[in-house]
Amino acid sequence: MKTVIFGAAGFIGRNVVERLREKGEDLIATDFVDSPFGGDIDYRKIDMLDKEAVQNVVQEGNMVIHLAASPLVASLKKPVENMRVNIEGSLNIMDAARESSVDKVIFSSASSVVGDVQYNPVDEKHPCVPKTPYAVAKYTVENYLRVYKEIYELNHIIFRFFNIYGPYQYPESGGLIPMIHKRVASGLEFTIFGDGSATRDFVYVEDLADVLIAGCKADVDEGIVNLGTGKGATILETVELAGKVLGVEPNLKYEPERPGEIANFVADTRKLESVVGFAPSTSLEEGLTRTFDWLKKNAE
Ligand SMILES: NC(=O)c1ccc[n+]([C@@H]2O[C@H](COP(=O)([O-])OP(=O)(O)OC[C@H]3O[C@@H](n4cnc5c(N)ncnc54)[C@H](O)[C@@H]3O)[C@@H](O)[C@H]2O)c1
Repeated sequence: MKTVIFGAAGFIGRNVVERLREKGEDLIATDFVDSPFGGDIDYRKIDMLDKEAVQNVVQEGNMVIHLAASPLVASLKKPVENMRVNIEGSLNIMDAARESSVDKVIFSSASSVVGDVQYNPVDEKHPCVPKTPYAVAKYTVENYLRVYKEIYELNHIIFRFFNIYGPYQYPESGGLIPMIHKRVASGLEFTIFGDGSATRDFVYVEDLADVLIAGCKADVDEGIVNLGTGKGATILETVELAGKVLGVEPNLKYEPERPGEIANFVADTRKLESVVGFAPSTSLEEGLTRTFDWLKKNAE
């Protein structure tokens, strides 16, 4: 297996590259920013919108892990640019894959394609009414992948990521866990919108990397799979657990719930377990401990 990773310089990409390297797998890491890696990683600086460059690099591998994206916040400010990167960029990768000898494309979709949650845990058959341009783009690429399988026999697995956290996620990303760390570790006020009882499904990023690698090797070549733990934690529990790990009493402030906020959102992981044989299992306490150790050394 030789895996080409798009979005390799991002939060999840860096973890996936490290995991593949630890396992001694062959890889080519790509992103459109300068390499954050040492010289032992085969890194190519490529913009997904450069169709020819994408074609050239995809031809060199037989597996693609596609993690590149323009984020949610950018999608609200610049929906057209976001659409180009997230849809056209993905189509460039898919076209390159179908025209070369790629065995499978692993795509990073998002649980937010679901929109308002009608029941929990959320399975893959839950209706999808995406509520942001970012989620519309993810849902669109999911549909393109289904069609590319039907028309061109392009093998793929679409993983719908739940709330991913861990090393290389910086507070500037706006991610909840690094934000909690930033505020709680320094004794600053942390604002909870609503009463903190909304549940989320937090996945430790190293578990996610293991799932993606197992997905490359699994005997499954199409479909949508939730990538969550199946265990919900409320926002309040998460902040309190963070305080326990940090040895600090969180200084909480409550504000009214923000419009559109989803109450509970937990993955049904039965399909994940049947596809890769396991679900992420690092406990939230262990994951927070490892994440905060990393943030302390790297982001303070
Ligand atoms: N982090 C989460 O909780 C989460 C949840 C759901 C889905 N996802 C998805 O998982 C994937 C990885 O997320 P992440 O958190 O690592 O995001 P990230 O923003 O840290 O990484 C995305 C990477 O894509 C790269 N990129 C953007 N535009 C590009 C372009 N035109 N050409 C090449 N590279 C480009 C960026 O430079 C960045 O390194 C994304 O597709 C994201 O939408 C993440």
